[in-house]
Amino acid sequence: MNILRELRSRFKTALQEFADDPASFANLVRPSQDAKFGDFQANCAMPLAKKTKTNPRELAAQIVERLDVADLCEEPDIAGPGFINLRLKNDWLQQHVNRLAGDERLGVAPTVAPRTFVVDFSAPNVAKPMHVGHLRSSVIGDSLCRVLSFLGHKVIGDNHIGDWGTQFGMIIFGFKNFLDETAYASDPVGELARLYRLVSQLSDYHATKARLPTMRETLGENQQAVESTEAAADPADKKARKALGKARSELGELKQAIGESEKKIEAVDNDSALKALAESCPDIADRARQETAKLHAGDEENNRLWNDFIPQCLAALQSMYDRLDIHFDESLGESYYNPLLADVVADLKQKGIATESEGAVCVFLEGNAAPFIVQKTDGAFTYATTDLATIKHRVEKFQADVILYVVDARQGEHFKLLFSAANKWGYSDTELRHVSFGTILGNDRRPFKTRSGDTVGLESLIDEAVVRARAIVDENDQTKKDADGNPAPERAEDERAAVAEIVGVGGIKYADLRHNRESDYVFSWDKMLANTGDTATYMQYAYARVCGIFRRGNVDRETVRSSPVAIELASDTERALAVQLSRFSEAIDSVVFDYRPNILTDYLFATANSFSTFFAECPVLKAETDELRTSRLKLCDLTARVLAQGLQLLGIQTTERM
Ligand code: ARG
Repeated sequence: MNILRELRSRFKTALQEFADDPASFANLVRPSQDAKFGDFQANCAMPLAKKTKTNPRELAAQIVERLDVADLCEEPDIAGPGFINLRLKNDWLQQHVNRLAGDERLGVAPTVAPRTFVVDFSAPNVAKPMHVGHLRSSVIGDSLCRVLSFLGHKVIGDNHIGDWGTQFGMIIFGFKNFLDETAYASDPVGELARLYRLVSQLSDYHATKARLPTMRETLGENQQAVESTEAAADPADKKARKALGKARSELGELKQAIGESEKKIEAVDNDSALKALAESCPDIADRARQETAKLHAGDEENNRLWNDFIPQCLAALQSMYDRLDIHFDESLGESYYNPLLADVVADLKQKGIATESEGAVCVFLEGNAAPFIVQKTDGAFTYATTDLATIKHRVEKFQADVILYVVDARQGEHFKLLFSAANKWGYSDTELRHVSFGTILGNDRRPFKTRSGDTVGLESLIDEAVVRARAIVDENDQTKKDADGNPAPERAEDERAAVAEIVGVGGIKYADLRHNRESDYVFSWDKMLANTGDTATYMQYAYARVCGIFRRGNVDRETVRSSPVAIELASDTERALAVQLSRFSEAIDSVVFDYRPNILTDYLFATANSFSTFFAECPVLKAETDELRTSRLKLCDLTARVLAQGLQLLGIQTTERM
């Protein structure tokens, strides 16, 4: 039962005669920020009184008069300018928490309106190694799939792998010209990745070299312009000062870009072998593009190479997903849609939705200057065409009600255009939603890079997290003592390794999920694995601690669960923990309201904190009576189940001993 939702519905009824849209005012019932104001607070009287020009306190009293919550709450309390404070009745809460303890779903009712969701997530471009940028989509998407399924929706997690893009032209070109056969035989994916990096570095080198003189020229001109404006500017003119500030910062950015370009060029120039390669193929970018075009046009050799590369790349991806415990129901890459694209364009044209414009085929959308290009002048189909074909497939095959795209915010414009084009094309019954997210930043607040300036590989990131977690596990175990104070580590080598994997991977996932997905965040190893604070480690500790209580007391959890002794809320601390546990259902419902896993991490953090206070204040194994002991053990068990279930919905595992 979602108590918040229940209270809102009671308020909606009570507000009927005061507002035209009672639901929106009923939504102003919120969990209280501070327990001294009760468990829930309704803030609807003030805005409503303002609208109807009445006294808010009097209005609050009238609302309370019509409010029927006597079964759940104490007499509502009106405070300050007209807040309505609600406190759950202790009897009711006690019964409720006992119901939760006996409920496998921990109070989370399955949805009454199940829908079919396709969740498009992860979607890396293969043949390039997976990097830290792929983490967010994979982790957020996986968690949303888990929560939606738990609520009883039908969910198809679909990995829309980029397996047909221009990177293949680069790899094929590299394969034909720069292959290290021995390396390919021993580590094919590593060698393909090296070829990709090499070809893109060389193309970049030529492009940057060609661009640099113009950049320098612009810098000179802008510098002069800024200097002369500076000399002429009136210091009292605010507007001019602001413009100057802006011009100066643009100058700074340009300088930085030139510095980076120079570094790229130097990296090749200072390496005689690289430089010789670069000089041997000044037209490398064009030649790589031609390889892509040949692949797409069905060239036999390039298709054979592609068919050789793909299974190896997919296997490498799979081992990453196994490690991350991330699963898909469907993995149709962009290549799957390739044969369908000509029909998509033909259909769009036939329906008058797409038109030819300067040799390209475009969908023009109201309110958008830029057209949505579905076929380029050279006949090639685009990322956009593929995405349209994908929508058609998902609607026809799965009857998708909703398609979620868990993709970087930088693709926002693409999705805006895609959704309106799909709408025009006739897919208006399917809800299309870009679940966008920000960037992971380094300490310098720029996209997270390695010391040498490369993107951080996902595998090395996970490896490092596990190494760091292992150090924590070792230290933890080595400091354990027996009853006589002698060192008594409990865990064998392989057990420690397994726990380190759970803590390391969990730490990375949680550190990502706990942020509002739309913000950028700074990656921090220390914050990620800290054992206090808002981290997976802290939650995993809380879980293991409960398991430890049962172990030390030699108590079987199942036996406690089925004991006829009921949970009794004997103190404020126990009551507070019970209220917190009863909010699990609210948290889960709120996650899917706007697809935000951080609502669940916030909830779990508050739950672990509430448990920690309880644990410090209420003796469990040494409780005064047997009844109280069982009652508290039941609360412990329920807490552990909520924590484990919550973490599971985030894709994070728990372990009975840390
Ligand atoms: N492969 C794309 C990229 O790495 C992401 C694909 C997202 N999904 C989609 N249907 N466009 O940028």
